[in-house]
Amino acid sequence: MSVTIGTPLQSSAFKVLLLGSGELGKEVVISLQRLGVEVHAADRYDHAPAMQVAHYSYTLNMADAEELKQLIQQVKPHLIIPEIEAIATQVLVDIEQQNIATVIPSAKAVNLTMNREGIRRLAAEELGLPTSAYRFADTLESFRAACDDIGYPNFVKPVMSSSGKGQSRVKNFDEVDAAWEYAQTGGRVNQGTVIVESQIDFDFEITLLTVRAKNAETGEIETQYCDPIGHRQDSGDYVESWQPQAMTPAALEESKRIANKVTIALGGCGIFGVELFVKGDKVWFSEVSPRPHDTGLVTLASQFQSEFELHARAILGLPVNTTRHSVAASAVIYAGVDDRNLSFSGLNLALANPNTDIRLFGKPEGFKRRRMGVATARAETTDQARELALHTATQVSVQQN
Ligand SMILES: Nc1ncnc2c1ncn2[C@@H]1O[C@H](COP(=O)(O)OP(=O)(O)O)[C@@H](O)[C@H]1O
Ligand SMILES: [Mg+2]
Repeated sequence: MSVTIGTPLQSSAFKVLLLGSGELGKEVVISLQRLGVEVHAADRYDHAPAMQVAHYSYTLNMADAEELKQLIQQVKPHLIIPEIEAIATQVLVDIEQQNIATVIPSAKAVNLTMNREGIRRLAAEELGLPTSAYRFADTLESFRAACDDIGYPNFVKPVMSSSGKGQSRVKNFDEVDAAWEYAQTGGRVNQGTVIVESQIDFDFEITLLTVRAKNAETGEIETQYCDPIGHRQDSGDYVESWQPQAMTPAALEESKRIANKVTIALGGCGIFGVELFVKGDKVWFSEVSPRPHDTGLVTLASQFQSEFELHARAILGLPVNTTRHSVAASAVIYAGVDDRNLSFSGLNLALANPNTDIRLFGKPEGFKRRRMGVATARAETTDQARELALHTATQVSVQQN
């Protein structure tokens, strides 16, 4: 049983609805467009990156169950791809139950990973995977107790948040109340629950891109892995990544074991970004995205099929190839200013080296720390690739108009 792809904009069209139209979704849309899929892209603001390459676009509040239901009824997609976490996920659970559309990779995966509590309890308590020690707290009192229990330094994160929002590293008891305040303002919803995690003293952290895709002959879902991606985070946000990250054979095997367990539990087809902390042969599970991962932008330069092509193929039930052809790195291009209608120059210098490339996402508005583009570079070693990618990113200058 494999998918039949019709003609876009005709009655036979195979339709995909993307919920969240950021830069990662944009690359997924481009991959789907190449396969003749009709793409509908939604986000909370007009002209979001993926909307600019889709057949149709919609601006709405996807966290509003009624608005979301209405959109799905209107579009009648075959597949729904949630690209962000701030979605009325109960609607997706109902849609899947009623067989109205397939939720990628599964409603369960989307529902569990939108909340740090869901995925952490699944990984640590149900699957028995190694994680940092953790406590949940929903009042200042219980938060103070949780911090003392876990010890210092620790990491505090709103359970409903991403990209470092509302997160802090708490070094001692004096910083506890401020961390609580900050977490309350940084979460997606004002629900207040936070996770307190013990600090893992890792050598490096990786994203293990893990693909669940159907075998072309048997139709069975199989798990395949990309080479590990190393990355550097600044205030909970990715700044640069590289592939492959060197690690011991034992650590790589353990990483795959963890990724396999967690992705099987989440189910469905597609790519997952499994975040792991590594020290020597020891590996801890941190979190997982049931979709392409920002640090995986490096695969645009390193693999025959980028994480976006892998995702597009896997969700359509097509076979994938995770082979890497080059050593590469990526570095983020920030707006550096808070303004709309920005311009980018220095591109000739950035691209002077034939082993470099850039993506500009086309976001209508920039903020100082908003990601507006990415530079990639190929080289002999990851150190050289990182240096070249960082250099390439800094060649791009942003102007206000
Ligand atoms: N328990 C921890 N120990 C050490 N570092 C951590 C821990 N939790 C988070 N970090 C650091 O903060 C980064 C962001 O945390 P993460 O849980 O991945 O949040 P987000 O969902 O915002 O990506 C991680 O990639 C890691 O660098
Ligand atoms: Mg993360």
